[in-house]
Amino acid sequence: MSRHVLQAVGLVRRYGGLTAVDHVDLVAPQGVITGLIGPNGAGKSTLFSLLTGVEQPDEGKVLLDKSDITKMRPDIRSRRGLVQTFQVPSLFPTLTVADNLLVGAENRHRDYAGGLLGLASKGRGHVSRLVEETLGSLGLSDLRDTIAGTLPTGALRLVEFARALCAQPDILLLDEPASGLDNDETARFSQLLRRTADDGVGILIVDHDVDLVFSVADQVYAMVGGRVVASGDPGHVRDDPTVRSVYLAQAAHRHDETVLKQPQEAR
Ligand SMILES: Nc1ncnc2c1ncn2[C@@H]1O[C@H](COP(=O)(O)OP(=O)(O)OP(=O)(O)O)[C@@H](O)[C@H]1O
Ligand SMILES: [Mg+2]
Repeated sequence: MSRHVLQAVGLVRRYGGLTAVDHVDLVAPQGVITGLIGPNGAGKSTLFSLLTGVEQPDEGKVLLDKSDITKMRPDIRSRRGLVQTFQVPSLFPTLTVADNLLVGAENRHRDYAGGLLGLASKGRGHVSRLVEETLGSLGLSDLRDTIAGTLPTGALRLVEFARALCAQPDILLLDEPASGLDNDETARFSQLLRRTADDGVGILIVDHDVDLVFSVADQVYAMVGGRVVASGDPGHVRDDPTVRSVYLAQAAHRHDETVLKQPQEAR
């Protein structure tokens, strides 16, 4: 089986005199949860946009399975297996949960030239089976006919995630997927991330909840001022002096001593 991998090679993005992303290299492989952390303004969202294709780099490349996708539009990237969820859930509010998932599934299975009616060879039966299976495996079957716009935040985020899964991603890019979730929901969500990665999906997660990222990720990249200042296994990154000073300074500012707990406490 070929291994899918998303790679950033020397990515640079400048806004006027400011270098928001400064020569960033990153590798997010299939079956692995890669976390991206950094204080406000570190360049996380800009890097994320370069990977999804929402923004173009000034220098460097984005590679998917070694092919250069730097110039490829976001929708084409998603049909290639690079699927994203959004910080603000982007479901169709007037459609049911099941129909939202169907849109996600059809996006991937539509053939390249076929447009709206051109479902690829696997066809509609396959797509509706996929939707029902995904609803079932995420415990969402009871909500299948609920109008998405009426759901509370926790359910909405889960449906957004389910829709992304229906696009059968090789690599899933998650921007702040746990924002607005309570502690129980966050714990369940991190189990779901693990299960998804164990099923072979590569996950890149950007989240302000560093405890979530450190507890769920297999590898972490820490950005400060547009640069990657530390990367590797979570314990190594957590103990990095630059990372510690940034987060401890932030914690002191917030009078909050809960950041950067030891991993066993954070789990
Ligand atoms: N469209 C833009 N035009 C000008 N400057 C921008 C633009 N987008 C981002 N920046 C700047 O680039 C830097 C990195 O921003 P970015 O949003 O990527 O950081 P971030 O790590 O996602 O921060 P946060 O944790 O607050 O979401 C910041 O200084 C920001 O002000
Ligand atoms: Mg951001």
